[in-house]
Amino acid sequence: MTGRTAFEGVLRQITDSVPFEPGYYNESYLDRRITARMRRRNTDSHAEYERLLREDETERQALMDALTINVTGFFRNPEMWEVLREVLRKLTANQRRVRVWSAPCADGREPYSLAMLACDDAEIEERRIEILGSDISEEALENAREGVYHTTRTTDIAEELAPLSDPDRFVEREGDDFRVRSAPRRLVTFETHDLIRDGARGPFDVVLCRNLLIYIDVDHKGALFDTLETSLTDRGVLVVGMTESVPPDRSDRYEPIDKRRRVFRRA
Ligand SMILES: C[S@@+](CC[C@H](N)C(=O)[O-])C[C@H]1O[C@@H](n2cnc3c(N)ncnc32)[C@H](O)[C@@H]1O
Repeated sequence: MTGRTAFEGVLRQITDSVPFEPGYYNESYLDRRITARMRRRNTDSHAEYERLLREDETERQALMDALTINVTGFFRNPEMWEVLREVLRKLTANQRRVRVWSAPCADGREPYSLAMLACDDAEIEERRIEILGSDISEEALENAREGVYHTTRTTDIAEELAPLSDPDRFVEREGDDFRVRSAPRRLVTFETHDLIRDGARGPFDVVLCRNLLIYIDVDHKGALFDTLETSLTDRGVLVVGMTESVPPDRSDRYEPIDKRRRVFRRA
C-alpha cells in the first residue's frame, strides 16, 4: 500500500468507527495528531496503525480525544477581553437585550468568562445579556453544564480568573475544584451545534468563534463563515482567535474594532 492510500485508510477507519468527521479538518492537522498517536503506540506505518484502530477500542478512544482539539481556558488571551469589555458596556447601555454566542465553547470556560465579566463589571448591565455556548462535542458540553473546573499540574484556574476583580463572587472553591456560581450560570445556556453542518442561529449581537478555524480545511471554511455571518445582526461583532483571520474574500464585509485582538464589526 502506498503512503497516501495507507493514510487515507486511517481516515476511513476514523470515519467508520468514531463520531468525528476528518473531512472538515486540514490534512496537516490530522497528520500531526495521528503521527503523535502512532509514536505513542510505537507504530511505524499507517497500515499498521489502521489495523490497530480496527482492533483496539482504547486506541480509537485515545485518537478521538487527540483529534478533538478542546484546549480552552477562562479569559484566554486576556488582552482581547479588554476590547470585549468595552463592546459589552456599549451594547448593554444602548440595547435592552444583548445576545452573545460562544461557538465553539468547548468545556464552557469561554461563555462563563463572558458571564462573569458581565457580572463583575459595574458598567455592563448583566441582566440584559443572554449567552449561548455551543459545541459539536457532547462530552465537552456535559462538562460545561456541570460547570466544575480543576486546577492541575498544567491548568491554574485561579490564575485564569485573574482578570476578575473578585473571582470568589463567581466561583465556589473547594481545594483545587472551582464550581461556577449561579449568578454567571444563569446567563448561559448550552446547545449541541456543528458549525459546518447545522447552519445559523440567533441573530446575535456578538459571536465568538475562536481557535477552531485554524484546524478547518479550506473547503469547509466557507460553510463555517456562512453560518457565522447569517447568525450576526446587522452591525454585529465577530471575534476570531488570535492566530486566525477573516478569509480574504470576505474581509470587505468586516471592519476592525481592534485588528490585533481580532475583534471585527459586520460592515
Ligand atoms: C480549541 S476549542 C476552542 C474553545 C474556545 N472557543 C477557545 O478559544 O478557548 C475547539 C472546539 O471546537 C469544537 N469543534 C470541532 N469541530 C467543530 C464543529 N464542526 N462545530 C462546532 N464545534 C466544533 C471541538 O469540540 C472543541 O471543543
